[in-house]
Amino acid sequence: GAPVAIDISTAEAGQKITVAWRGKPVWVIKRTPEMLASLDKVTPSLLDPDSEARQQPDYIKGAARAIKPEVAVMIGSCTHLGCSPTFRPDHPAPDIDPNWQGGFYCPCHGSKFDLSGRVFKGVPAPLNLVIPPYHFASDTLVIVG
Ligand code: FES
Repeated sequence: GAPVAIDISTAEAGQKITVAWRGKPVWVIKRTPEMLASLDKVTPSLLDPDSEARQQPDYIKGAARAIKPEVAVMIGSCTHLGCSPTFRPDHPAPDIDPNWQGGFYCPCHGSKFDLSGRVFKGVPAPLNLVIPPYHFASDTLVIVG
């Protein structure tokens, strides 16, 4: 499939944009400083906080799992059976998890992911969400593929 360009110039802080790439939903989330601070708070609840199972290009490192921390890019398909998780940036959300800091909740079988797409312990999904290959053509134009 061809690469897809995503213009994030009009995206507001905290907003998620969804585009299609190779028949899959790709999410771009413009993360706020508060959202980025949440990534360390949620670490104890995560199965693979350092993404040792990868699921991401080699140039993606660290808890933010992004080239620019304030712009997250990931495939919006649950790593259990492929449902599309719901964006739940609100926190706390004790109905989801006592340590919820905002993230993605899969309605199919209850898998939970943080705002970097890292999977929680004790849910059906075995892996963090996939980060596709991408780069920035400019400050506000993300190219996926
Ligand atoms: Fe997401 Fe099963 S498909 S938890």
